[in-house]
Amino acid sequence: MRVLIIGSGGREHALASCIARSPRLSALFVAPGNPGTASLGQNIPIRAHDVAGLVAFARAEKIDLVIPGPEAPLVAGIADALAAENIACCGPSAMAAQLEGSKRFSKEIADLAKIPTAAWQSFTDAETAHDYVEDVGAPIVIKADGLAAGKGVVVAQTLDDAHAAITAIMEDKLHGEAGAQLVIEECLTGEEISVFALCDGLNAVYLGAAADHKRVGDGDTGPNTGGMGAISPPPWATPHIISDVMTSIIRPALAAMAARGTPFRGFLFAGVMLEQDGPKLIEFNVRFGDPECETLLPLLQSDLLPALVAATNGTLAAINLAWTDAASATVVMCAKGYPGAYATGGEIFGLEEAAMIPGVNIFHAGTMADQSGILANGGRVLAINATAATLEEAVALAYTAEGVIDWADGFCRRDIGRRAIFAGKWPS
Ligand code: AMP
Ligand code: GLY
Repeated sequence: MRVLIIGSGGREHALASCIARSPRLSALFVAPGNPGTASLGQNIPIRAHDVAGLVAFARAEKIDLVIPGPEAPLVAGIADALAAENIACCGPSAMAAQLEGSKRFSKEIADLAKIPTAAWQSFTDAETAHDYVEDVGAPIVIKADGLAAGKGVVVAQTLDDAHAAITAIMEDKLHGEAGAQLVIEECLTGEEISVFALCDGLNAVYLGAAADHKRVGDGDTGPNTGGMGAISPPPWATPHIISDVMTSIIRPALAAMAARGTPFRGFLFAGVMLEQDGPKLIEFNVRFGDPECETLLPLLQSDLLPALVAATNGTLAAINLAWTDAASATVVMCAKGYPGAYATGGEIFGLEEAAMIPGVNIFHAGTMADQSGILANGGRVLAINATAATLEEAVALAYTAEGVIDWADGFCRRDIGRRAIFAGKWPS
C-alpha cells in the first residue's frame, strides 16, 4: 500500500513509525513531515492545510490511504475531496469533523445521543452572554465555538474572568470568526482523561486512554499548551470506567452521527471528566491526540495499517488489536518561552544516544535538519516516550532519555505522571 500521512508533529512521527513497520506498506509519504519522519518515508513539502495540493499529490502518486494527523484539513473537507477521487482517507468528512469544528454542534450531538456532559447554552450576542454568567455565577467555562488552535477555552474561576473572556472572544475577536458564537457551560471537576477509538461509521475499536498534562508548569500551573506530556494507562481509568465511556459516550455519538447521515470515520478522541456520578464528556476531537498518540502507539503490538483501512471501508468489526500491558510515559521538550514567544535554531545533541536506550522512543515535532545536525524549529520540539512494566519505571526512563539530550534552549515539565503514580492505585 502507498500511504500518505499529513502533518509534522510528534503525533505524525509516531504514526509513521507504526505504519513503517507494516508488511503491507510499499511506500510512505509524509506532508510536510519532520526530520524524524524523513528517516521512515519521504517528506513532501506540502502544508497540512493545503487541501488542494494534498489531494493533487495523492492522485498523482496513486496513494491508497491518506491519514490526516491534525484537525484542520479534516474540517476543511479533505476526506470529501479524496472520496471524490476514490482515495481512502482515515478521517471524517467535513460534516462529521464538525464534532471538533463546532463546540455547539458537538453539544447538540451529545444532547441528541443522551451523552452525559456539562449543562450548556450557546450565544451569538455578547450582551446576552454577559447577563447569563451574571445569573449562573462562577466557576464557569467560556468556549469559542470554532477552531482556535486549542486556545478557545477559558475556565473562569470568577465572574470578572468570565466577563473578560466573553469580551475577548466575542467583542475583541481574539480568535476571529471562531468566536462569533460562544458555548458557555457548567464547570466539571474530577480527573480528566483522553479516550481514543478508531471508528468506521458504525463500529468503534478502543485504542487506549491517556492522561495529558496541559499546563506549561509543574503542578499544573501556568498557561495551557498543546500538551506537555502524557501517561497511559491513567490509574483512574479502570476497565469499568473505560467500558462506561465506550457505551455512554463513544458508541452513542457514532450512532447519532450515522442516524443524521454524517457517519463518523477515523480517530475519535473524547476528552472525559471522571465525576463522582460517572464519566462526562468535555469535548470531542476528530483526530489522535498529541502527545497521547506518541504515548499509546508504542504499546500496540498489532499491525495498525489494516485497522486504518478497515475504518475507511466499514469492516472494523473484524479487527482485533493486541496491546502490551506495559505502562507508557511521554515527556515533551519545548523551546524556552513556549507557549509564548520562543527562539528557534538552537542545535540539539544526543538524540541518537537517547533513542538507543531500550524502551525509549524519540519522536520529532518542531525540529529541522541542516548540515550540522538537528535544530529546534518550533514550540513543542521533541516527544520523549518510554515504555516499561510500571508507570514509575516508564516515567523514570523517559527522564533518563531526556537527560541524555543536550539542548541549551529546551525545557520540560519535571512532574509528568507524578500525580498518577501517587494515586496509589498502580499497579491495579
Ligand atoms: P478544550 O479546548 O475543549 O479541550 O478544553 C480545554 C480544557 O479546558 C479541557 O481539556 C479541560 O481541562 C478544560 N475544560 C473544558 N471544558 C470544561 C468544563 N466544562 N469543565 C471543566 N473544565 C473544562
Ligand atoms: N493533547 C491534546 C490534544 O491533542 O488536543
